[in-house]
Amino acid sequence: MKSFVHGEINEFVQWYDTDGNIINASDGGIIYADGKYHWYGQYLRPLSATEGGQITTVGVVMYESENLLDWKYEGVILAPSNDPESEIFAPLRFERPKIIYNDKTKQYVLWCHYVRHPGRLGRCYGESEAGVAVCDRVNGEYKWLGWSRPVDSKGFVRDSALYKDSDGTAYFIYDRHVHEEGAKPDFSEDDRCLYVVKLSDDYLSFTDTYKRIDAASWREAPAIVHKGEYYYIVTSGLTSWATNQAKAFRTKHLLDRWESIGDPCVDDETHTTFNTQSTFAFKVEGSDTHIMMFERHNTNNFVECSYVWLPVEFNDDNTIALRYKKEWSI
Ligand code: GAL
Repeated sequence: MKSFVHGEINEFVQWYDTDGNIINASDGGIIYADGKYHWYGQYLRPLSATEGGQITTVGVVMYESENLLDWKYEGVILAPSNDPESEIFAPLRFERPKIIYNDKTKQYVLWCHYVRHPGRLGRCYGESEAGVAVCDRVNGEYKWLGWSRPVDSKGFVRDSALYKDSDGTAYFIYDRHVHEEGAKPDFSEDDRCLYVVKLSDDYLSFTDTYKRIDAASWREAPAIVHKGEYYYIVTSGLTSWATNQAKAFRTKHLLDRWESIGDPCVDDETHTTFNTQSTFAFKVEGSDTHIMMFERHNTNNFVECSYVWLPVEFNDDNTIALRYKKEWSI
């Protein structure tokens, strides 16, 4: 029987699509639509971090599967432009893309951490923002609508995520970074914190309703999971591509106060989130299993990053636990 294979925590194990190519869908997510899982992410380059492997010339791609193990490549869903005048002139970054479906407008809405050409971490207005694109099919060509900044114009957008609640309200969660325009990237004195921002009814813009997750200052890579009375966010510290210790937070209401519940990783002896960074969480259809997706970034060659998907355990005291598995199946 097939399974999710991760290997040892210092190993990079590649996953392949049904054509035999390496799955290249960095830091994306899963959306279930038309009876299938669709896995999307940013298509990276076979280069190191110093050479810009984390920057894309292809865009966001998608794969489909019925069993979460056999993935068929569906193609590019959000392509950059070749026009130097365009906002999405390649190379750039559509980092950590996430997609949700709007039941009212019948559109799929993609938000990402947009890093303008040439895709180096932005230091000026317009370089590191929240980008949005839409499509009327899950796997069609998404149309770029532009970028903006939630909350106010002072905070750069860094890592971000999306969450659609059961009542249809959707939220943009991001690492808000208040940094002096154009200043050197010595970020040590800056104000950084995760925020939850309510989206408009059509999910295409931000409302003025938001919450600063005070407990989650200097955190990124947010992945949200909901079960029972609580919403949980798993996050990473800010050490760029180097791995660090995870920390989770919980709340009963997304716009209310969040509290820290510590590191959810069990027996993580190296305190590195099993040598990964959090990406996204989803529920397996027709089951009670929630899977949290992590990524082991390979800074020598970003095409050889590896995916680590772990089942989320929900404890009786309303905390969560994550245990490393070299290999497992649902
Ligand atoms: C990581 C972050 C990535 C990317 C990278 C750039 O920590 O999670 O999304 O922004 O830093 O240095």
